[in-house]
Amino acid sequence: MSEASDEEKGLKRTLTAKSLIALGIGAIIGAGLFSLTGIAAAENAGPAVTISFLIAAVGCAFAGLCYAEFASMIPVAGSAYTYSYATLGEFLAWIIGWDLVLEYALGAATVAVSWSRYLAEFLLKHGINPPLQFFCSPWEKLSLLNGSVVIDGGVINLPAIFIVFLLSFILIRGTKGSALMNGILVALKIAVVLIFIAVGFGYIDNANYTPYIPDNTGEFGHFGWSGILRGAAVVFFAFIGFDAVSTAAQEAKDPQRAMPIGILGSLAICTVLYILFAHVMTGLANYKEFMGDAKPVATAIGKTPYLWLQDGIIIAILAGYTSVILVMLMGQSRVFYSMSRDGLLPKVFGEVHSKFRTPWKTNIFFAFFVSIFAGFVPVSDLGHMVSIGTLLAFVLVCIGIMVLRKTMPDVARPFKTPLVPLVPILGILICVFMMASLPLETWIRLAVWMAIGIVLYYIYGRRNSKLTGDKK
Ligand code: ALA
Repeated sequence: MSEASDEEKGLKRTLTAKSLIALGIGAIIGAGLFSLTGIAAAENAGPAVTISFLIAAVGCAFAGLCYAEFASMIPVAGSAYTYSYATLGEFLAWIIGWDLVLEYALGAATVAVSWSRYLAEFLLKHGINPPLQFFCSPWEKLSLLNGSVVIDGGVINLPAIFIVFLLSFILIRGTKGSALMNGILVALKIAVVLIFIAVGFGYIDNANYTPYIPDNTGEFGHFGWSGILRGAAVVFFAFIGFDAVSTAAQEAKDPQRAMPIGILGSLAICTVLYILFAHVMTGLANYKEFMGDAKPVATAIGKTPYLWLQDGIIIAILAGYTSVILVMLMGQSRVFYSMSRDGLLPKVFGEVHSKFRTPWKTNIFFAFFVSIFAGFVPVSDLGHMVSIGTLLAFVLVCIGIMVLRKTMPDVARPFKTPLVPLVPILGILICVFMMASLPLETWIRLAVWMAIGIVLYYIYGRRNSKLTGDKK
């Protein structure tokens, strides 16, 4: 913490509690809400996708309470990585820092790919025919305009790469400018969600809510209560991002107070919006109509007389996705910044630009790294990796809270997680359960990624770290 208080050369403190809430919402509302709600309703939960949202939100709230205690106690850049560094030791901290690359870097890539898809749809709908092989990764099938345009394997996803580079450049220019841009985008995004709820409410057809919990017939997917739980693991993606607030602790004014407000406030606002949104969406159209539909918002709006809203909503969604990518890229660079400060990564990742005061070299590195995934990997593979990586981080943070209450009971905790150990234990159970719902290949990829991380730790981190390294 004393290292972090170097205001002269370190990161700049510009963010208030309000801008932290905006930062959280900026990272949270995105591809999960606008694309996955319909899919989870069609394949898993029916109209009861609202209950799936509620379950995912409860899991996130338990983890969020633990994040809030840590963030108020150790308000230093680096989020879950830094908390484990302080509580669970260097090796586990490295593991979690490495794991967070899945959440932030691959999260940015996933949303960039979704962004490119909405852009392609928008252009085609307006009679512009872009070269679609440059909107699609090589191993992916792209189906647009309700299946009337299909690309079976493209060359590279160029718009996804473009947006990643553009936003990395904005981040390098400074956190304050990025926060301002984020604020505008968040306002736009919330406006879309509220307009959708307000316009749609009057056109709900109650017949669409019967049955509210479809039977588990196995005809289309998994329904019943097990479907609702699976749906929770799917829509979990929509909540990812509230924890990104904690990566910016070192740039917050009055972080002890502002951090818990930012984390829990953004999560609470999004939970309410999500449940209302899902309720209206499944009330406007029958859940079966969302099967394989990547733009359920447009489908649902199609049930109202306000068809002209569709274009405006797509433009706002395109804008809104950029703030998710922005905060994810920022979070990633702050985690690497902290890891490099502790000697676990080369010094270059911790260098702060003399004028902009941002870790610009890390930003450039991740512009390339994220682009490789955004340009060449199919979106569903990316999304699953992001979910499993984030859930693992949540589990470790919940464990960290319990450990720290034992090892450092007397340290000042401006915000205390209530009912420890019950809350962290329930957080762990719900997160592990959601992890268990993800496909086997996702688990295998997680294991491979972690194995690479462990090898790197022994080759580089252990030898160079400030705690155990040779060079003190
Ligand atoms: N929660 C973010 C989204 O849904 C990652 O796009």
